Amino acid sequence: MKFFVDSADPAEIQAALALGLADGVTTNPTLIEKSGRDFQNTICAIADLVTGPVLAEAVSEDAAGIVREGREMSKWANNVVIKIPLSRAGLEAIRVLKNENIVTAATLIFSPGQALLAARAGASWICPFIGRLDDVGQDGMDLIRTISEMYANYPDINTEILVASVRMPRHVTESALAGADAVTVPFKVIEQLMAHPLTDLGIRRFLDDWKKFRKK
Ligand code: G3P
Repeated sequence: MKFFVDSADPAEIQAALALGLADGVTTNPTLIEKSGRDFQNTICAIADLVTGPVLAEAVSEDAAGIVREGREMSKWANNVVIKIPLSRAGLEAIRVLKNENIVTAATLIFSPGQALLAARAGASWICPFIGRLDDVGQDGMDLIRTISEMYANYPDINTEILVASVRMPRHVTESALAGADAVTVPFKVIEQLMAHPLTDLGIRRFLDDWKKFRKK
């Protein structure tokens, strides 16, 4: 399973790269705003850091506007992928951009039907938001399992499942169990994944014993 970093902060992306956990990067308007930097400069700087896909989100609400943004952003770097919210306009834009060999990711996916339509339209990736489903009392992981099973019935579907809105380590490990192609993970969750109190305790005990032994 590929690990993407869900961040627009170059320092976090560098830290994930050092761990070999930056197969790609996802951004969204909220993360770009939080970074306080210019959109194009931020995407270009990230696209320089990583060799994998860098997802940059279109903000137009009509198909023509999304297509215009997609064509423009695709010129910024070879690895920029156009992230498009799932809507009727978004599906139309994905089709047009696919015909121009511009790579897209359908985002804000909350149902299996949306995932099916995005694949039919020609999205290379879909981003189902699991944390936000958990927020409203639905099991986000159920959606990943269903999409995974559905896509597996059709070997000609090449759309990859990139699990988004990941909030905790369990979302990552259950995505792997469900057969997701990739997860996009905030750096905080990467840190949580590597930590265990018994590991810390074990390291402390070994080091204490080692020091005792060396004193003798
Ligand atoms: O990858 C999408 C992500 O940035 C949204 O996460 O936690 O705002 O639902 P969240």
